[in-house]
Amino acid sequence: MSEAPSTPYTVAVVGAGPAGLYAARKLAQAGVQVLLINRDLKPGGLAEYGIYYTKHKMKEGLRKQFRKILDLPEVQYFGGVEVGDAYSVTLTDLYDLGCSAVLFTVGAQGTKMLGLPGEVGTEGIFHAKDLVYYCNQLPPFANQHFEIGKRVGIIGMGNVMIDIARWLIFDKKVEEVIVIARRGPAERAYTDKEMREVVKNLDQEALHAELERIEPALKEVGQETEALFAEMMKPLEKAKAADSPTRLSFRFLSSSKRVLTDEANRVSGLEVESNRLVPKGDTLRPQGTGEVSVIPMDTLIYAIGDQVDEKVGLPFAWGKYIVLSDPHPTAPERARYEVYDPNKEQVLEGVFVGGWARVASDGLVGKARADGETAASEVLAYLESQTSPSHAHDEPLQRWKRLLASKEIRQFTKKHVQRLEAAEQAEAQKLGQDFFKFNSNQKMWDAIESSPEV
Ligand SMILES: Cc1cc2nc3c(=O)[nH]c(=O)nc-3n(C[C@H](O)[C@H](O)[C@H](O)COP(=O)(O)OP(=O)(O)OC[C@H]3O[C@@H](n4cnc5c(N)ncnc54)[C@H](O)[C@@H]3O)c2cc1C
Ligand SMILES: NC(=O)c1ccc[n+]([C@@H]2O[C@H](COP(=O)([O-])OP(=O)(O)OC[C@H]3O[C@@H](n4cnc5c(N)ncnc54)[C@H](OP(=O)(O)O)[C@@H]3O)[C@@H](O)[C@H]2O)c1
Repeated sequence: MSEAPSTPYTVAVVGAGPAGLYAARKLAQAGVQVLLINRDLKPGGLAEYGIYYTKHKMKEGLRKQFRKILDLPEVQYFGGVEVGDAYSVTLTDLYDLGCSAVLFTVGAQGTKMLGLPGEVGTEGIFHAKDLVYYCNQLPPFANQHFEIGKRVGIIGMGNVMIDIARWLIFDKKVEEVIVIARRGPAERAYTDKEMREVVKNLDQEALHAELERIEPALKEVGQETEALFAEMMKPLEKAKAADSPTRLSFRFLSSSKRVLTDEANRVSGLEVESNRLVPKGDTLRPQGTGEVSVIPMDTLIYAIGDQVDEKVGLPFAWGKYIVLSDPHPTAPERARYEVYDPNKEQVLEGVFVGGWARVASDGLVGKARADGETAASEVLAYLESQTSPSHAHDEPLQRWKRLLASKEIRQFTKKHVQRLEAAEQAEAQKLGQDFFKFNSNQKMWDAIESSPEV
């Protein structure tokens, strides 16, 4: 691999999660200089700070791949820089660097809420993403306090719900975890593999009773309770040992309507409306029956997926960044990655999105990687249609460094990542742990400054 990029182009990739990292690799392999900018000091995004915090082997396997990407000479990494109109580096700052294109792979950092009465300002309501960041030691969440009670409701039944339930069962050892789903057991979004982690805590008697309760609604759509019970208990065959008394239960066909509070303004219950299932296309949608009940709880966690961060300042509607909706000129079935400004009724020239920034909360690392790579292909196709930039090939990088200096933002580069990783490994060894993470940016900087050059 040559030391200098073999094309005159520089592309800024904002966000170094799996989508941004694999996009950076694809661009680098095509000879493009990549300015890889990341909010967190460490690269990896949710692979580092989302995947369940004890999955050390999986995380380390991914880190190995990410290290190789950062090692590419065409990739210049800058951690600890948040880009967006509400942040330290604005979109205008970024566009003024003179990069040939900008790819946003910032993930889905916005918080999706339900807009329920009582939802805002009530103690004991949390979003799963914040808890996941806390468990994975992402600053500043790592240092926040989350007051978890004894009886915890989780809205949503995807794999994030399982990760949260796992933490509540094995770390917090709460008395009860109640999963609240607007649809039925057949519409569960979690996978059996993940369910194995918590299935031993599933209260089988309560599950039977719950399936009996909703049997008429299930019958309406041709579903059988016994078959569903057997399906839901299948993960038990390969279940992990359970050493927690926490009772896990499900409340199906229940849409959240209102948060109830006690005199201390803490959650005391969730009012839900019962649903039936109604076919719509090839899916079943929930439809309210008007029947209302209350599920008592002292903590409520939303695990309903995320939306993108509006504060970045890209055109935004309905929780998403807006992309071109016209069919692709040569492949009509292909998704679009070009950001579209509906006010100007035109694409934002040279601006693209990929990964969870394009479709929020969509799939595993492999899917984000594939989407990042496709986004990079779209960027490369765009570059082919461009004339070479008139400035020297490293001008955007030099401007970027001057911009950071003018904003008094310290450069956290790939060398710093290496030194931080070495310092954390040394700390883990000293403590006899599988892994160790410094839980604030200051501690990360301090560790780097007191560690030898790698
Ligand atoms: C709780 C949870 C557990 C998961 N567990 C698994 C699992 O076990 N296995 C699996 O395969 N998949 C798992 N996934 C899915 C996987 O993590 C995602 O598919 C993948 O990380 C999405 O990649 P991304 O790069 O699009 O976004 P992200 O991973 O979110 O990366 C976004 C990056 O952008 C940066 N960023 C954000 N905003 C800005 C900004 N304004 N300026 C600059 N940088 C910014 C962030 O610092 C981050 O590094 C899990 C997801 C969650 C939520
Ligand atoms: N270990 C792992 O492999 C792992 C761990 C965590 C996450 N992930 C992946 O990360 C992605 C995101 O996971 P996720 O759990 O956040 O999302 P998800 O799989 O899409 O599940 C979201 C859940 O929230 C519900 N929901 C969404 N909007 C709602 C609303 N407005 N009201 C009530 N309920 C609502 C959904 O119900 P409906 O179906 O009715 O919409 C669904 O049950 C997934 O692809 C997941 O597989 C993987």
